[in-house]
Amino acid sequence: MNTVLVGLQWGDEGKGKIVDLLAPKYRHVVRFQGGNNAGHTLVIDGRKIALHLTPSGILSENAICIIGNGVVLDPAVLVEELADLEAWGVDDSRVKISDIAHVILPLHRQLDSSREKKRGDDPIGTTKRGIGPTYEDKIGRRGMRVCDFIDDEKRKTKFINLIESKGLELQDEETRYTLEDLETWAKPLADRIRPMTVDSAEILHKALDKDEGILFEGAQGTFLDIDHGSYPYVTSSNTVAGAACTGAGVGPTAIDSVVGVAKAYLTRVGAGPFPTELHGDTGEEIRTKGGEFGATTGRPRRCGWLDIPLLKKACKLNGVTHLCLTKLDVLTGFDPLPLCVAYENDQPVYEYMPGWKEDIVGIQSWEKLPENCKSYIERIEALAKQPVVLIGTGADRKHQVLRATIFNKTN
Ligand code: GDP
Ligand code: IMO
Ligand code: MG
Repeated sequence: MNTVLVGLQWGDEGKGKIVDLLAPKYRHVVRFQGGNNAGHTLVIDGRKIALHLTPSGILSENAICIIGNGVVLDPAVLVEELADLEAWGVDDSRVKISDIAHVILPLHRQLDSSREKKRGDDPIGTTKRGIGPTYEDKIGRRGMRVCDFIDDEKRKTKFINLIESKGLELQDEETRYTLEDLETWAKPLADRIRPMTVDSAEILHKALDKDEGILFEGAQGTFLDIDHGSYPYVTSSNTVAGAACTGAGVGPTAIDSVVGVAKAYLTRVGAGPFPTELHGDTGEEIRTKGGEFGATTGRPRRCGWLDIPLLKKACKLNGVTHLCLTKLDVLTGFDPLPLCVAYENDQPVYEYMPGWKEDIVGIQSWEKLPENCKSYIERIEALAKQPVVLIGTGADRKHQVLRATIFNKTN
């Protein structure tokens, strides 16, 4: 079984937690797009870790974790993350990096910040991790790939060309990188990641031949997709399930199922349209109860009610076969619960569902959920025309109700 898991909203839907949960059933877990703009949080018995580049299957002992060709890789961030993972007893021999992934360099981070500044009062609200500028260089056919980065001669040549091509745009910046600066930064990182570098498509093709399972871990969310998202307030990669094929090097026929993850409400970090956004006390209350602060930048997330038309569109854009609804526990105490069911003259039309008061944190069976919580989920299923197979009832790995065989030990 090969599965793609993606976010159905504007990111931070709780993808990491579900990848961690599913990972023991797959031999390979692969990131296929984005970079360390992602922050995927795992909570295991109260211990918390946010992963930015390493696939969220890393805590599953047998999972080979691949950073695929579609990812943009900041080697300094990866090296730091691997050091953090050591505290969890993880050795890096299970982490592999595609030799044709593109590398985020200090110049890209600088360009990201500088371009945001130049947008004045209309910024994208990027994570300033250099994601956009690195993808630009990739598409412009002048980027630095991992195979160039780990080759001392090729790396220098690329650096010389990049410094020259970015010089004009960065001439007013306080820090001006020289070849020597970049080499001092890069050399130890290149030495560190060289042994992890592989032809990852080749590894996956062998896995497909042997019918070993592959779990493709999406980052960001459907409406941050460069094509299908709320352009220009999007990230610079395709985030939809189809991108797993190009970003990992497998054909569409390799994919058996698509797990879509949505929050029971809605959040967004950064700028851009958000029709069901709550600006007052209720939004603040959701933010506080849900801990809605970015795992990458710490920015407060904008909060609002669930938007069914968006959810339905996301299911179509990704070909979702399994829908997961996370963070139901956060909605305890909100009564009534508005659901945006349609738009009229571009304004959300709400249906009001009765709320529940019971604490549901950690509940693991459908029967134990309050009646109104079940009705809220059933209404979403009916409106979205998609059964909900996982219901999140807390941040911990154990906190959910599972309702499909995909989560069984064997299937
Ligand atoms: P990702 O980027 O999609 O992996 O999501 P993030 O990790 O950025 O944000 C999701 C946050 O919600 C994290 O802090 C998770 O630990 C937490 N979380 C995930 N599922 C649940 C849930 O069902 N209930 C609660 N309360 N928290 C959850
Ligand atoms: P995960 O994988 C939420 C948002 C940024 C900004 C826009 C562009 O944790 O769900 P970028 O740095 O990518 O150029 O920023 O995209 N963004 C995310 N929002 N979760 C993410 O990842 C995000 N990755 C990028 O806030 O609005
Ligand atoms: Mg996140």
